[in-house]
Amino acid sequence: MKTKVTQFREKTGLGVWLVTKNAVNMNKKPNTGVDIGGIQLKNPVLTASGTFGYAREFDRLMDLNRLGAIIVKGLSLEPSKGNPPPRTAETPCGMLNSIGLENVGLKAFEKEKLPFLRTLETPVFTNIYGKNTAEYAELAARINEIEGIAGIEVNISCPNVKKGGVAFGAFPESAAEVVTAVRARTVKPLMVKLSPNVTDITEIARSVEAAGADSISLINTITGMAIDIETRRPKLGNVTGGLSGPAIKPIALRMVWQVVQNVKIPVVGIGGIMTAEDALEFLMAGAVAIQVGTANFINPNATIEIIEGIETFLVEKGIFDVAGIINTLEV
Ligand SMILES: Cc1cc2nc3c(=O)[nH]c(=O)nc-3n(C[C@H](O)[C@H](O)[C@H](O)COP(=O)(O)O)c2cc1C
Repeated sequence: MKTKVTQFREKTGLGVWLVTKNAVNMNKKPNTGVDIGGIQLKNPVLTASGTFGYAREFDRLMDLNRLGAIIVKGLSLEPSKGNPPPRTAETPCGMLNSIGLENVGLKAFEKEKLPFLRTLETPVFTNIYGKNTAEYAELAARINEIEGIAGIEVNISCPNVKKGGVAFGAFPESAAEVVTAVRARTVKPLMVKLSPNVTDITEIARSVEAAGADSISLINTITGMAIDIETRRPKLGNVTGGLSGPAIKPIALRMVWQVVQNVKIPVVGIGGIMTAEDALEFLMAGAVAIQVGTANFINPNATIEIIEGIETFLVEKGIFDVAGIINTLEV
């Protein structure tokens, strides 16, 4: 039996609508479902790659089926040991990491990690990276054949070894080259994750959209460093690393807002999201969904609290559908 609200929605074709408190009470829970590039999610809260392991690590702590989607640790074709320690350093309002994309490799992921992920109702994205375009393409082709993976997030913040180690995501041409190569080898929905370490983020966003991305996620970490003044040595074994956490939120929010103005595909906001209020800022700036990263290390239940906080906000404001707050920023 369809609710009156659903009947009204189907009759009018209205996707975004604000209703009175009475209407909200009629259906109690607001609709938090969103669509990101062809994948229907029950809510707009995803876990950010590299901060949620392969999800099983969090199974004891929360109900993984409540998440909008899970994005697992970045995968390469072969296993990778990552960078030398120390690999993390705390900073005011954030952290630096130089993990260096350590991971088990695609084969072990499929054999050891995927069987558990397949038991979940929550859609799972793999996050992929390669040392060159051919590696990205090969990963995409192999993942295309694997059941139980809803979509692929393409991390283009990695050094292109053939171009002197400059990140693929630093220039529109190299960013598009990776996306074109990946697009040609998979029919799975592609979310392309942008690097913030660029001059004009909108240029990169437009280039990956034109190359076939179904959605865009941003931002990855911002390159930084820290020094131990006693030893006069860098705090990270790799010297530089990626800054994440609340310190980067205003930059991430600005970039998300700029990208939303420049592309038609859905945008997923990432960067320093710790609370539902942070998430709501990104949604109002035009993000269709958000990812939670560093917050998972501080509060393993952060994602669930953010989901509940968004729902509470919608009910309090008398908004029946999360679509009623997305891209509603007035400037
Ligand atoms: C320890 C750590 C590991 C990460 N590993 C990956 C990774 O494997 N692939 C990737 O695309 N991003 C990775 N990231 C970046 C996050 O997914 C996210 O984009 C970034 O941390 C900003 O979000 P936050 O401020 O909420 O953490 C990593 C971040 C951290 C802190």
